[in-house]
Parts: sequence; C-alpha cells; structure tokens
Amino acid sequence: MSLETDFIVIGSGVAGLRASIALAGSGACVTVLTKDKASESNTEYAQGGVAVVLSDDDNAELHEEDTLTAGAGLCDPEAVEALVTEGTKYIKELIDWGTEFDRDGGRLVFTREAAHSRRRILHAHGDSTGKEIVRALIVRAGREKSINLMPFANTESLLVSDGRCVGVRFLDPILRAPRNIFAKAVILCTGGAGQLFLHTTNPPVATGDGMAMAYFAGAEMADMEFIQFHPTALNVEKAPRFLLSEAMRGEGGILRNKYGERFMARYDERSELAPRDIVSRSIVAEMRSTGTRTVFLDMTAMDEVFLKERFPKIYETCKFYGLDIAKHLLPVSPASHYFMGGVRTDLHGRSSVQGLYAAGEVTCTGVHGANRLASNSLLEGLVFGARAGEAAVSDSSEFRVRSSELESAELETRNLELGTGLATAVKKRVKRSMWERVGILRDKDSLRRALREFQQIAKSNLSISSNNFVTLALLVAEAAFWREESRGAHFRTDFPDKHENWQVHSVQKTGHEIYGSKTINFGVKEL
Ligand code: FAD
Ligand code: SIN
Repeated sequence: MSLETDFIVIGSGVAGLRASIALAGSGACVTVLTKDKASESNTEYAQGGVAVVLSDDDNAELHEEDTLTAGAGLCDPEAVEALVTEGTKYIKELIDWGTEFDRDGGRLVFTREAAHSRRRILHAHGDSTGKEIVRALIVRAGREKSINLMPFANTESLLVSDGRCVGVRFLDPILRAPRNIFAKAVILCTGGAGQLFLHTTNPPVATGDGMAMAYFAGAEMADMEFIQFHPTALNVEKAPRFLLSEAMRGEGGILRNKYGERFMARYDERSELAPRDIVSRSIVAEMRSTGTRTVFLDMTAMDEVFLKERFPKIYETCKFYGLDIAKHLLPVSPASHYFMGGVRTDLHGRSSVQGLYAAGEVTCTGVHGANRLASNSLLEGLVFGARAGEAAVSDSSEFRVRSSELESAELETRNLELGTGLATAVKKRVKRSMWERVGILRDKDSLRRALREFQQIAKSNLSISSNNFVTLALLVAEAAFWREESRGAHFRTDFPDKHENWQVHSVQKTGHEIYGSKTINFGVKEL
C-alpha cells in the first residue's frame, strides 16, 4: 500500500535536515527518507569547518571575492551573494540551536584554508565539525513533531505524473519491499558521488543516487565535469582514504616528496595553500617524477599537545594505522572529494521538473562554479536547504496530493528489471575506469575509452542502483569529453588552457544533446 505525506525530503545530511526544519516550520508533515542511519552522510565526516563571515577583519565582499575566484568564471554571482550574506544568519541560528564551535576564552576561533584571504573557518571539536552540526540539527529536527525520519529507507526512483514529481519509490525497511510515497513536493538532498571513483574521501552512501534519479525524472543536470579531488587523503595499504584536513596545511603542515624535499613552491607561489586542484595536480606530477604512489604531509614541526587538541580525530585515526602525526611523515595522495555539478536549480532549489526541489551537494546552484572554495559546502547546505524548504511550501500551497488517483494512474517511473548479483562487480569496474580515465588528468582518448565502456555496461541487465551508478559515470565522462579546455577542477591534458568561449555551463537532459548555457539558474520567480 502506498503512503502519503505533505513533503518528502530524501537525505539527512546538513541540507536535508535544514530543509526539513524549514518545511516543518509551515506546520506541514515531512517524511525524511534516508539510506542508512540518520547521521551517515558526507556531512558527518566534514573536518575542516564551515566558512562564515563573522570575524572582525572579514566581510561579505571578501568571502564573495574568494568564492568567485575559486569558481574560475563559472559561479553565479547572485548565488554566491546569497551564500555569503545569508550564511552568517544561518550559522548564528545553528549556534542558538546548540552547535558547539570551538572557542578560545569564549570567543569563536577561526582557522584558515587554501584560497581564503582571511581566517574565516569555524570548526568544532577540532576536526569533527560535520559530526557536531549533524548532532545539533538532528536534535533540533527531533523537536518538530511533524518530521518523521525513516532511516535505512533507500530510494531508487522518483514518481512523475503529467510532468510533475509526485513522490518516490523506496525500499521500505520494515516491509522489506518497494513502496510508493506521494507528496506535494520532493526535496532531493542526497549529497555527492565521490564513490564513483576508486579512491575517495566519501563514505559508502555517497553514490550520487539523487543525481541519477533526477536525471531519469527529466531534470536538467549542470556542470557534471567538475569534480574536486582533495590533495591529502591518507594512503596506507588496506585502509579507506581517510581525509587529512586542509586545515592541517592551514595550520602550517608541509608537503614533501619521497626525498624529503618540500616541493609545492616549484608549482605555485602559494605553496601548500594553493587551490586544491593545483595541489592535487602538483602531487600527481611529483609522484610521477619520483616514481611513487604517495607524497608526505609533514606536521612534525608542530607541538604534539597542539596537534592532539586541534586534530583529535585525525590523531587517533593515524595512530590506529601506526602513525604518530607529531613524529611521522604521513603518506598521502589525492582522492575524489566533492561534486560541483549536479541537479540544475534556481536560487530557491527549484529543479526544471515541477514539484522537484534539490539542495546541497546533489545540486548545481552556481555557488561553486568550476571549483569549490574549501568549507563553503556546509554553508551551502544550510542556506540552500532552508531556501528550498521555504520555496516548496510557498509553491505548493494550492496543490493537493491525490494518492488514490495517483496509485492507479500511469506513473512515469522506470521499469527496470531488478537485476541480481552484478552490482558489486559493475560498480568496481566503473570506479576503476572513472579513476584512471575520468580522474584528475583527462584527455580525449581516455574519455572516449571510458564512454565506450560505460555505454557497453549500461546496455546490460542492471539493477536500478547499478543503472543509476553507470548513468552518472556516463554523464560525468560525457561532460568532461565535451569541455575542450581546462578550468577549475576540470583538467584536460590535450586542452591545458582556459578559453573564454567555454565560459558556459554544461547542461544534460534525457533525450537531448549536451549543450552550453551562459547562466546556471533559470531566473524564474523569486519567493
Ligand atoms: P550529505 O551530507 O552527503 O547527505 C546526503 C544524505 O542523503 C545522506 O543522509 C545519505 O544517506 C542520503 N542518501 C543518499 N542517497 C540516498 C538514497 N538513494 N535514498 C535515501 N537517502 C539517500 N565541506 C565543508 O564545507 N567543510 C568541511 O570541512 C568539509 N569536510 C569534508 C570532509 C569529508 C571527509 C567529506 C567527504 C566532505 C567534506 N566536506 C566539507 C563536504 C561536505 O561535507 C558535503 O559537501 C556536505 O556535507 C553535503 O551535504 P548534503 O546534505 O548535501 O549531503
Ligand atoms: C578539509 O577539511 O580539508 C575539507 C574541507 C572541505 O572539503 O571543505
């Protein structure tokens, strides 16, 4: 039997939780479907912190300027303005809701990360910022009686009727069977897709399902070629690529090659604090020239007590792998980290499909352009999560959910065979190919080979989740093939320069050829 609610939020990271709170504020019933336990998300693992204009020597214009510079000509200035100006209000609200950011003698402390012109990053429990934000948001959401959070409720398809998104099909964790749930609007907050690559800082839930679901529901996708690779993921045998926060370099960490030489200044005058894409490519070049699989992060010049206090989670994790961050050089290499592209939305989270909204890493709002400024995404989740929730309420006040009619109606949903045991093998193959051919350095030949392989895989009888996965890989590879220049995080060795002609966003949609658009948001109605 199907279910009915006012609004569905998919995902319980920073964007999903903030959107749910905004929706509940209107008195509406909100059902939050989330794939794993409520806290499992990219947000939970965020380390460095959240960028916000709150320190005495900072202002919104400076934060805006840094964000636009990092975005390499593809940020939407209005989206960036909304982020930096409204961000402060949402962080203050988060503090009011009990988020404990680190303080010194009662005053908030700010750290620095690459490409920020000021120390403007708030952090919590040293390097567990995301965990603290999720904790506070879950407590706050729990106070809203009309929010019903359903963990372990994996969603695979959106339900569309007459061009409007009317609900989702999910796997009911209690019935252990697929079930439809209908609503006035659906807000996708499913996060990014770092897991598309062999090496990633992202947890297993980050498989980009929401992007694929939106694409199949007819939504426009934008800037899918722009993937951020984090330069410093711990690289020890048989361990996942645990992130060693950029804040470590912000506090004075140094990168060395296998000969112990500090090399970054040879690549960029900003050395270790150059933008992430530059540091990642420099590390790849250094690894190639020295014939190694890692370089080293050196924190040994710093006081042990400071390191333990400032980076407790990193300290403990490295210790688990036999490394003392105060004494040892830490083997690191780049790993996929963040998706700048995603579901194309306007400034209030509206996608191109009526009734379908999106917020957070699953989107392309124009906030990050071709490269995200460090620590801007937690802020994006708060600002645009709240905006999407408010827009969904205001747009759908006249709309009634008619689940009994919809139940028997012709729903445009995907009619795939539920494939069997292929999933793991398929995903492994795609991940390796994405890493080797669609990774930090790309060219026409590598991309063409990846595209052929993914097209072949997509023809086989796949489960919906495998089909979502390979479709997303195809979208990224196709956009990377299309963009014949290098810009931000997208680096083509056969087109190493940036070109004015390419100052456009890639747009992909089912049944249409990929094309370039000058603007990202649709410029439709404001609230
Ligand atoms: P997420 O937090 O990823 O939440 C997505 C949610 O959707 C999860 O609950 C997931 O279970 C659910 N979901 C996914 N698919 C489905 C499905 N099919 N059905 C149901 N539910 C689904 N950013 C910063 O600003 N500062 C930092 O310091 C920082 N550090 C980071 C460190 C790490 C290790 C990582 C991985 C990322 C970091 N980032 C940081 C990036 C940032 O954490 C994310 O971009 C941001 O948290 C995304 O929030 P979100 O709400 O959009 O998605
Ligand atoms: C980090 O701590 O290095 C991650 C920060 C981010 O991705 O914004």
